[in-house]
Amino acid sequence: MRVLTGIQPSGDLHIGNYFGSIRPMIESQSNHEVFAFIANYHAMTSLGDGEKLRQLTMQAATDFLALGMDPAKSTFWVQSDVKEVLELYWVLSSFTPMGLLERAHSYKDKVAKGIASNHSLFSYPVLMAADILLFGSQIVPVGKDQIQHVEIARDIAIKFNNHYGDIFTLPEFKVDEAVATVPGTDGQKMSKSYGNTITIFGDEKSQLKTIKKIVTELIAMEEPKEHANCNVYNIAKLFLDEEGRKALQKRYESGGEGHGHFKLYLADMLWEHFRSFRERREYYEAHQDDVRDILHAGAVKARAVAQPIIEKVRSVTGIQY
Ligand code: ADP
Ligand code: TRP
Repeated sequence: MRVLTGIQPSGDLHIGNYFGSIRPMIESQSNHEVFAFIANYHAMTSLGDGEKLRQLTMQAATDFLALGMDPAKSTFWVQSDVKEVLELYWVLSSFTPMGLLERAHSYKDKVAKGIASNHSLFSYPVLMAADILLFGSQIVPVGKDQIQHVEIARDIAIKFNNHYGDIFTLPEFKVDEAVATVPGTDGQKMSKSYGNTITIFGDEKSQLKTIKKIVTELIAMEEPKEHANCNVYNIAKLFLDEEGRKALQKRYESGGEGHGHFKLYLADMLWEHFRSFRERREYYEAHQDDVRDILHAGAVKARAVAQPIIEKVRSVTGIQY
């Protein structure tokens, strides 16, 4: 199966991103053909600072390589390095009814939040459709907010295929219901927009400081404690197997330890869990030219897959004269 993911380069990754989407993507490299790219054109809809976009693009690439994106197994590139995507975006625009885009929740939500409505924000799903269709993607794993965009891509593909013949593979979205929502330090969904995140690559001191801020109930040290609704437990369990969870539950039930102890335990576990990733990240951080080489090689691989598809599109539309 060819599985495609677009990653918005949006800054410091948190453990909600890791457990909710990065780790499943990394693991799927063992049994799927993974295509993953950094959606820097898409990021322009919310970021107008060139230096910042350049820096965030490299940061996202460095983070994903550190976390296990394997360029030998998968195809990993930066969206803007395969320009054919912009060509396809234009071609698909003629197969995109205005009503389809007017119904897009993500666009309506952003405008309702006060983000200036412009054409790139409006046509965002058409570029996303081009991302998906250009590489013959079969499965697109997404969070719930992106389901509609994959459906739009599919609708556009059907319209195009009905008109010109079977050119595009019809993509399907995949939402992993098994992946639980990771709670933030305040117990709400962890999200950078709520300021309640625990980052993956923060330094040890600030990680500990963040963990100490996790909201817990006030209860005397010697009292037995409830684990099921405890934010510390609910984050710690992500790092533990069944045996580890049982052992931690026992510590809660036994009393004699305060939430401060459990926080220290969590901080240690977090630090150990990401140790090897951090070391790999330090390597890539110090070798940014290697990262660029990997991305360029990824773009060559991606373009080779896109080529026959875009050539068919040029041919049937008459652009190739
Ligand atoms: P944020 O909410 O911090 O802006 P994004 O919307 O950029 O995060 O999410 C990127 C990916 O990480 C998505 O696939 C999303 O489903 C996943 N993700 C984000 N936050 C969480 C969370 N708290 N629990 C599980 N998965 C999450
Ligand atoms: N819109 C996606 C997001 O905000 C990023 C993205 C761009 C994407 N192109 C894609 C995701 C193609 C999957 C497939 O997260």
